[in-house]
Amino acid sequence: MSTSNTLSSTTPYGTLPSASPLPERRPVSLPRLNELRERGEKITMLTAYDATFAAVADAAGVECILVGDSLGMVCQGLSSTVGVSLETMRYHTESVLRGLRRVQGTAWVIADLPFSTYHESREQALRSAAVLMQAGAHMVKLEGGGWTTETVRFLVERGIPVCAHLGLTPQTVHALGGYRVQGREDQSAMLLRRQALELQDAGAAMLVLEMVPAALSTDITQELKTCHTIGIGAGKGTAGQVLVMHDMLGVNLGKNPKFVRNFMDGASSVREAMAAYVQAVKSGQFPDDTQHAW
Ligand code: KIV
Repeated sequence: MSTSNTLSSTTPYGTLPSASPLPERRPVSLPRLNELRERGEKITMLTAYDATFAAVADAAGVECILVGDSLGMVCQGLSSTVGVSLETMRYHTESVLRGLRRVQGTAWVIADLPFSTYHESREQALRSAAVLMQAGAHMVKLEGGGWTTETVRFLVERGIPVCAHLGLTPQTVHALGGYRVQGREDQSAMLLRRQALELQDAGAAMLVLEMVPAALSTDITQELKTCHTIGIGAGKGTAGQVLVMHDMLGVNLGKNPKFVRNFMDGASSVREAMAAYVQAVKSGQFPDDTQHAW
């Protein structure tokens, strides 16, 4: 991918949101994310599941695009992420990458390993991760701590960057008893802190912390040195933030979670809304003290 981030107005997708040239952006890579963290700049991430929205997010300056298995809920109408297949993840990952290539996008793309595609063995995880990496992903994400640690190590040793995911882990929503805050009690908070350190030690370069108290996500962020925390409903103390794109655009089938802001308010286009999200995260205005999960 080139370093230019200029959008053409004559793409096969029709006119993309703005043809105005953007400032030069280098391709996002792990060293680049490390640089951001070192200079105290927040990392921005949004989900995207198709070529056009991925291109728009990239043009708006979003550094990381997550092809999340949340697509099961927002694209497929499922009631949880449990029913999402590896083939569906491959299809959407490939679509996102095609969109980014068309506009010479620079975003770092993370693809979710869906439910039961990495649970059996480290070899199963490697085969599943290979499908998503060959579809163009730069990194795979998997949920849980403890039992996942050796799987993370196995993938990282084989050259696959891994993002871990702790707190509310949607693939285990039934075991957790619903979409509720995790790590409130001392014991569960201690467990999450320990698992985060183990995942870093195993080589995870990123860690999504979902629906955990701000004090806990801030502590974990400060303890981790080589693994960047990305919060969702976890307060502002993490190294970066992620939202499900549909939620931050105010379009979803249910009620928006309490920790989400509708960035379409006051925006005249999707790209403007995404750019407002980037700006709000970078400036520390999002999330504010009311935008959390507890
Ligand atoms: O699948 C997804 O969109 C996610 C985010 C909620 C972090 O995992």
